[in-house]
Amino acid sequence: MNLPLALYIHFPWCVKKCPYCDFNSHQKDQNFDETCYIKRLIADFIHDYENYGFGRKIQTLFMGGGTPSLFSAQALESLLHALSPYLVTTPEITLEANPGTIEHDQFKDYFALGINRVSLGVQTFNERHLKNLGRIHSRDDAHRAVDELQNAGFSNFNLDLMHGLPMQTAEEALVDLTQALALCPTHLSWYQLTIEPNTYFAKFPPRLPDDAILAEIETQGFNILAQHGFERYEISAFARVQKYCQHNLNYWNFGDYIGIGAGAHGKITDFITQKIIRTSKHKLPKTYLDPDKNFLSELKEIPSSEQMLEFMMNALRLTHGFSMDLLHKRIFTKMQNFMPLIARAQQLNLLHQEADHLQPTAHGLRFLNDLLMIFNP
Ligand SMILES: C[S@@+](CC[C@H](N)C(=O)[O-])C[C@H]1O[C@@H](n2cnc3c(N)ncnc32)[C@H](O)[C@@H]1O
Ligand code: SF4
Repeated sequence: MNLPLALYIHFPWCVKKCPYCDFNSHQKDQNFDETCYIKRLIADFIHDYENYGFGRKIQTLFMGGGTPSLFSAQALESLLHALSPYLVTTPEITLEANPGTIEHDQFKDYFALGINRVSLGVQTFNERHLKNLGRIHSRDDAHRAVDELQNAGFSNFNLDLMHGLPMQTAEEALVDLTQALALCPTHLSWYQLTIEPNTYFAKFPPRLPDDAILAEIETQGFNILAQHGFERYEISAFARVQKYCQHNLNYWNFGDYIGIGAGAHGKITDFITQKIIRTSKHKLPKTYLDPDKNFLSELKEIPSSEQMLEFMMNALRLTHGFSMDLLHKRIFTKMQNFMPLIARAQQLNLLHQEADHLQPTAHGLRFLNDLLMIFNP
């Protein structure tokens, strides 16, 4: 038996670092050489695939960042050409794009390569908030980018929006949401801004809306999304029917994935040794690009005692939850201690069980950390 396999490719450069961002992204500098980076990505992939592919075809490919749209279509063409023998016939191929990096016809060139999904980082349409978030684009740039991608033929696209921005009112957040929906995306990722350690905002904390405003944004926002036919299928992910992000669903269903590129993570299940391992690649582009260095910075086995929690951290994000059958297929942990934990989560109204199916309650989704603590060994 083998699990479905996905591929994540990380592009670690951005025009400028945003003050809230803790992703592995670095301001574009003299180390940026797209030809060298693509060569390293291909070598990284071949190495991982030989070790962890187990002959599987890759179902979905996600190019994330950083800012993958800093890379030319020519550069991505050589990458996709090298990967094509390993992909299923019609894989979902997503590219993350920043509206501030999109040239006229750039999406047409990407579409011609077989990329069939775009995830556009809009964040907000409000010029004042865009400025406070240190974004490199305007509201008009975001509109132009959506026009460009639609004209290029992308019918399947996601918009990233954030709410709970410094000094944001509920009305402003909901106007953003309505404006995003007016652009007819198939998918919306709607994140509440979090202050992450080691970011500029952690060092110089901005004033965030209070809990009452945040609650109002969420309650009204969920209603607006539902009225527009968007189903909340994960904590922060909303989609029109059948337009779930297949790549992310594989993470949440605890499938396998190879992760290539600076700072990328992978997760591989070996049914022969009965081990689940996590791979991490060197984070600094300079180190990753060094031909004398190995790509891997860390290879870690998930001990049997932690597999349940790791599974839950993913699967309980899904509003539909998961079946016991999936749990049995994904981890090697013995289940004897599991039933009391489920019973406890049910007593606390955090989890709902129906026959073979487990689903977080509305309360469980809201207090996901409390729910997860129950499965913490
Ligand atoms: C890696 S970024 C990809 C898009 C691209 N780099 C951009 O910013 O346009 C993924 C998304 O995570 C969200 N995000 C990043 N940092 C966040 C934070 N601190 N709190 C909430 N959402 C965040 C943003 O919506 C961002 O677009
Ligand atoms: S553009 Fe995206 S990845 Fe880059 S710093 Fe900003 S939020 Fe992070």
